This record gives sequence, C-alpha cells and structure tokens, in this order.
Amino acid sequence: MLHKLQYYDDKKGAKVSRSTSSSFGVSKLPSGRLNDRKIAQKIYSGEFKIAVYGLGHVGSAMASVWLRAGAHVIGIDKSPTVLNYAREGKTHLPEPGVGDAYGEGIKSGRFVVRDNLERASRESHLKMICVPVLFKDGSADLSTLKEVASEVGKGLKKGDMVAVNPSVPPGTTEDVICKILENKSSGLLVEKDFYLVYNPERIYEGRAIEDIEVRYPAVIAGAGPASTQIGTELYSLIFKKGILTMSSIRAAEAEKLFEGVYRDVNIALSNELAKLCEKLGVDFWEAREAANSQPFCNLHKPGVGVGGACIPVYPQFVIDIAKRLRTDCEIISRSRIMNNSMPAYCVNEAVQLLNESGKKSIANSIVTLLGLSFRGGVSDTRLSPTYDVIQEFLNMGVKEIRIHDPLVAKDSRLLGYPIKISLTTDIHEALQHTDLVFLVADHPEYSLLDQKMLHGVPLYDGRGVLRKSDLFDSNLKTIGVAR
Ligand SMILES: NC(=O)c1ccc[n+]([C@@H]2O[C@H](COP(=O)([O-])OP(=O)(O)OC[C@H]3O[C@@H](n4cnc5c(N)ncnc54)[C@H](O)[C@@H]3O)[C@@H](O)[C@H]2O)c1
Repeated sequence: MLHKLQYYDDKKGAKVSRSTSSSFGVSKLPSGRLNDRKIAQKIYSGEFKIAVYGLGHVGSAMASVWLRAGAHVIGIDKSPTVLNYAREGKTHLPEPGVGDAYGEGIKSGRFVVRDNLERASRESHLKMICVPVLFKDGSADLSTLKEVASEVGKGLKKGDMVAVNPSVPPGTTEDVICKILENKSSGLLVEKDFYLVYNPERIYEGRAIEDIEVRYPAVIAGAGPASTQIGTELYSLIFKKGILTMSSIRAAEAEKLFEGVYRDVNIALSNELAKLCEKLGVDFWEAREAANSQPFCNLHKPGVGVGGACIPVYPQFVIDIAKRLRTDCEIISRSRIMNNSMPAYCVNEAVQLLNESGKKSIANSIVTLLGLSFRGGVSDTRLSPTYDVIQEFLNMGVKEIRIHDPLVAKDSRLLGYPIKISLTTDIHEALQHTDLVFLVADHPEYSLLDQKMLHGVPLYDGRGVLRKSDLFDSNLKTIGVAR
C-alpha cells in the first residue's frame, strides 16, 4: 500500500509529495502496464525496463541513479565513443559515481547498451529522453529531440511512459513531442494508451547523482492526471527529497528556464557591481560577502564569462519566445549583453596589467590561460568563456597562447586558430617562460597559486579566486578589486 505525504511548499507554492513506500497504489487509471500495482517490484525484477536516451552529463547520471536503485536500464546513445565506454562499464565523463554504477550494472546484467533507438523503446517501459537542445539561428534547436522522439514513437507500446528531460521552450513537450509520439507509427493516444511527463533535470555537473538522489525534489508535470500520478510514483523511487508536482507541462518547462534566467541576470548584476567597485576602490568580494549575510540577498559571483550548455542558453530561449509573443524581456536581454561583454572587458584589464608591468608588449608576449572548462571542477568545455578570451587575445595580436586545465587533456577545437595554441594538464609547464597569466576557470587547485610559482609574472584573476594581495603585490589584478 502506498502512504503518500503531500504538503504545499510555501516558498515554491507548488504541491510536493513524498512517497513513504515504493509499492504502487494507483487506482482508476487507464488500462496499461505501467499502472500495475506491483510496479516497483517489476522495475527491480527487470520486467519493466528503463531506457535512457543520451548518456551525456544528464543521461549518464539518470541511468546511474536508476541502476543504483536496483532497476534494469538500457542506455542509448549515437556516439560510438560513449557506447564503447558504457559497454565496458566505464564512462567518458568524470562524473562521480557513474563509472561504478555502470560497472556494477554491466557485471550484474542490469545495464545493457544499445545504438538502436527503436529497439530500446520496444524493450523498455519508461523512456527518458536526455539529449541536448541547443540554440541555433535565433531559436531552440529541437532537431535531436524530435529525431529521438520519432524513434521512441516507433517502439512505443500501450502502458509505456515517456519522460522529456531537456530544458525546452514552453509548449515543446505537448505541441511537438506528444504529436510525434502519437503519430501513425505508434497509433497510440496520450493518457489513454501511454503516459507522458516533463521532468526537467536540475543537476550541477560534478555532483549530479547526489543532486538527483538527495539534494533536490523532482519537478514533474504530466500530460494529464494519469501521467502525473504515474510519473510521481515512478520518480518517488529515486528522488528522496520528494516530488514537486506542477499543474501543467508548460509551467514546468517555464520554471526550468526561469532557474537559468535568474542565474544569468544575477551574474550580470554582479558583473555590473564588480566593475563599479573597481572604480570606487571597494573590494566587491568583501561587499558581496557582507551583503549576502542578509537573508534576502544572494549576489552571485562576477566573472570573465558565463559558459556551459545551460545558463547562457536558456535566456536566449526566453528572449526568442518573448519576441514571438511581442513582449519585452529587457532585463534578460541586457544581462546577456553584459555577460557576453565580459571576456573583452577582462582581456583589456589583463593587457593593461601587462603594460603596467613594463616588460613586454602583447604582440611579443606568451599568455597562459588557466582553465578551458566552462567552470572549475568540471571537464565540460561547452560554450566555455575561454574560447572568447582566446579570440580577444588574438584580436590584440598576442604572440602565443598556452592553456592549462587539470581536467581537459585534449581539444580538437584548438587546432582551428591561426596561431598555435597548446594545451597541458601540467601547471609548471604552462607557467614556464610565460609573460602573462589569465585565470579563466575557478578550478580549486588555482587557489594554491603563489608568487613563487609565477616567477613574478603578472596574473589577471577573472574569477576572484586569488585575493591574497600580500602574496602577489602589484602583479595581481582580480575582477571586482581596484588596483
Ligand atoms: N549538463 C547539465 O548540467 C544540465 C543540467 C540541467 C539540464 N540539462 C539539460 O539536459 C540536456 C542534455 O544535456 P547534457 O549536458 O546531458 O548533454 P550532453 O551533450 O552531455 O549529452 C547528450 C548525449 O546525447 C547523445 N545524443 C545526441 N544526439 C543523439 C541521438 N540522436 N540519439 C542518441 N543519443 C544522442 C550525445 O552523444 C551525448 O552523449 C541539455 O540540453 C539541457 O537542456 C543539462
């Protein structure tokens, strides 16, 4: 029997439910297999399988969480590299816990890997779509999502559930994906024959499994009451923090975009204040710390740029939607412009620091960039500000660029520049005979840098990692701090 606790979360104003039993007590649902009373047992026995489409940052964590919960999982990807790693019970991503979950899953026979999307749909009951939605030519690029939905639709059976996970413009799941799933090839109707939920992933790379299992509640919205109810029951098996059930898929799609927009706008505000502090002669970081001690203030960190596949992308979805609806998104648009302008601003500051050191001109200088990933602690280089920083230094006529990243050993994109750009994981090699150091990503090891390692070379800190001015004298310039 299912004992369900439900309460209203005052802060979020949405209904949160938490299951205290993993058995499935759903009644009065349309006929079909996923409304079976013994769903949990069937998931653990392997009778009901879970297919995860896209074994990237989100999908690999999702597949791992289901494996850790005891489920039988089919992992699907189009990349031969990703598939080969997974077949060996390994992962191409350094996400904690994923390799162990894959390894144990392969050994116990609970994890299989497929490249045939339709077959995986035929063999599974819950299909989670975790492929990327990027921004292209002024709009969200739904092509991969549509392609995968079409294959899933071909293998869809009565009683199956489809979960859409990427962040998408509101309306995508119902107006685009549902129509693809309901098309002639499946001949099935949502809510009557199969179930559809939207479940935005809210992971922070580097602790994705922990986020899903214990840190955040799952946000779930269904195409109708049956989908919502079954989705809630299913996700209760893995999200210990409970389920936040929303009234519509559109609202859930919007809330996910709002999370990213909030952070982008907040970072833009901090960038503006940090630049002001440089003129004011106030240490932004000290002011921020004090301001954030007040519970209603949560100023984010300023920095050389906003990267990754999420935060710089979602505001653009929103701006595009607003344009179509003929309404303004002035603050969101201005924030994007501010954050996009930061690489040029910071490179200017760094070159000024070099000039003040009086040693060499930028045209005769070797510049070392610290960090290629979009932020510290991860190997993900998607939309990394480092690429914009490289471009700005090229515009300034720099002689040579070296990049250090502790987690990124190669990057074919670096071959496409007009000058040689080397990449190393050895910090001493990166700092040898260099003329200017520029900290781009806040990898934790960079906080250990000191004057001795730098041999007196000027350092521009675009992340506020190093503020020990006594250790650096005049050779350090930190964003948000006057020199
Ligand atoms: N990375 C994050 O931190 C994060 C956080 C929250 C939400 N999201 C959302 O999740 C989505 C996915 O992000 P991600 O970071 O996991 O992306 P990713 O690029 O790391 O992984 C996507 C995976 O899908 C595979 N793939 C691409 N096309 C495919 C196809 N046609 N068939 C099968 N597999 C295919 C790729 O090979 C890749 O392994 C994003 O678009 C974003 O909306 C990401």
